[in-house]
Amino acid sequence: MSTTRTGGLEGIVAGQTALSTVGKEGVGLTYRGYSIEDLAEHAGFEEVAWLLLRGELPTAAELEGYQTRLRERRGLPGPLRDILERLPATAHPMDVLRTGCSALGCLEPEEDGRSALDVIDRLLGLFPSMLCYWHQFHATGERLDVETDDRTIAGHFLRLLHGRPPEETARRALDVSLTLYAEHEFNASTFTARIAASTLADVYSAITAAIGTLRGPLHGGANEAAFALIEEFADPEAAEQGVMEKLRRKEKIMGFGHRVYRHTDPRSTIIQRWAERLGRETGDTRFYPVSVRIDEVMRREKKIFTNLDFYSAGAYHFLGIPAPLFTPLFVFARTAGWGAHILEQRANNRLIRPDADYVGSPPRPFVPLAKRTASAGG
Ligand code: COA
Repeated sequence: MSTTRTGGLEGIVAGQTALSTVGKEGVGLTYRGYSIEDLAEHAGFEEVAWLLLRGELPTAAELEGYQTRLRERRGLPGPLRDILERLPATAHPMDVLRTGCSALGCLEPEEDGRSALDVIDRLLGLFPSMLCYWHQFHATGERLDVETDDRTIAGHFLRLLHGRPPEETARRALDVSLTLYAEHEFNASTFTARIAASTLADVYSAITAAIGTLRGPLHGGANEAAFALIEEFADPEAAEQGVMEKLRRKEKIMGFGHRVYRHTDPRSTIIQRWAERLGRETGDTRFYPVSVRIDEVMRREKKIFTNLDFYSAGAYHFLGIPAPLFTPLFVFARTAGWGAHILEQRANNRLIRPDADYVGSPPRPFVPLAKRTASAGG
């Protein structure tokens, strides 16, 4: 990849964080000092959320208490149900979450004596309910009971989506994926949340802004876009030809490349193993082989590697999750990271306000309306 490109704040250190390291030599990706490999292997998402938000891994009693706390925060207030029912069936689910988050800020404002942690935990508990309630209402007209007794967010979501408790492998696969998506230093949506927090805005405003930023295909939207790409091809041969053609047209291939990682995305290695396993267990003979061929073509032709979003598309697909819900799953997870960054920003705040190089017109006299002639733009 070119290293001469300017802009995009590439290589600029924009602040300090104690939350994660991304691509640091010899360390890779860590959350509060723990490697992503260890967390994905040994911890559950709620443990990781506690670690990010409270600073240390929870004890068994703290974890149990935290899972109960999150479970108690799954209920949808009546006015929010009404809003979800009135949003169009054709809305993008990311717009639904963005709107739902903003609406909750009106119904349960932080200013009414809620701590930032109260709000963050409420959003962690509520987002799956919000999404599934809207999804189910518009798919079938059913008003979903969103209060399941599943102890984990992954299990709760799969149960709401499919209407039955998930298999343990499926629950664990989604749980690992939430851990992988939970935190990633100063990525675009997290930086957005920190900018909003630096103005002393409330948590809902910061997270609403972050959801909007995550939506784009260069960021979180890449998992849905990667699914659409893989779906285009009937078999690996068609994928080989199709991707070569896209590269000839200089198209970007979604789910590949990264601003910070140069050789590999450690999260991708972990989710690829899950995608391969889930594909095998569901009897897939097309989607995963096509994915692998696209991966091989990109390494061979561009020396560009898969990021977390590429094989996440396969894992989610094999879990029976519709593609428009992929990026919202990223929201469920990253709410922990956004929340931790908002707390960190508030603890040592200064307004984030960079400078710009001015490249516009030199100073010039104002021309009164009556004396203006038509501009070049007509
Ligand atoms: N497909 C094809 N080419 C890619 C590419 C991709 N996914 N990602 C980067 N490149 C190429 C660019 O065309 C560019 O080539 P050039 O220098 O010959 O013009 C070079 O690699 C640098 O890319 P650039 O877009 O400037 O890198 P960036 O650091 O600004 O962007 C991403 C990083 C992640 C936005 C970029 O890799 C991308 O758009 N990936 C696809 C979207 C995606 O998966 N996003 C999720 C990120 S976790």
